[in-house]
Amino acid sequence: MNDLTFGIIKPDAVRAGHTGKIIDRIIADGFRIRAMKLIHMTLEEAEGFYAVHRGRPFFTELTRFMSSAPCVVMALEKEGAVKAWRDLMGATDPAKADEGTLRKEFANSIGENAVHGSDSEENAQIEIAYFFSQIELV
Ligand code: CMP
Repeated sequence: MNDLTFGIIKPDAVRAGHTGKIIDRIIADGFRIRAMKLIHMTLEEAEGFYAVHRGRPFFTELTRFMSSAPCVVMALEKEGAVKAWRDLMGATDPAKADEGTLRKEFANSIGENAVHGSDSEENAQIEIAYFFSQIELV
């Protein structure tokens, strides 16, 4: 199997109407979208997804935001997918994101930063399995 990563188009970007533009950028960058769906997480689902951040000062704000409106979850395939998707997203803080990255173009703040991506291959597998069953990966 080729390399996979997990991505989210977060509620701020969906709400602002940027979903289509971000998907275009993902495809133009050479990713194959193996799975994708629009979901609206409950607070409990967002807390489960971000469990590693439980106890951090931004955990409550983060999980409330992620469960505040619909988002798009995706399994993305490309050689070196985890790094390639992080490179396309740009720095977590959009003020530090390079020109040409999604966060530079679409994000407003560190909390509402348009997109999420896995930080390792191990977490990519865990995060994909959190939202998709094997049969949903095409
Ligand atoms: P994400 O890649 O989704 O993973 C954790 C998220 O926490 C991160 O993007 C940010 O949107 C959010 N967050 C909010 N505040 C902070 C902070 N001070 N430092 C790091 N991440 C933060």
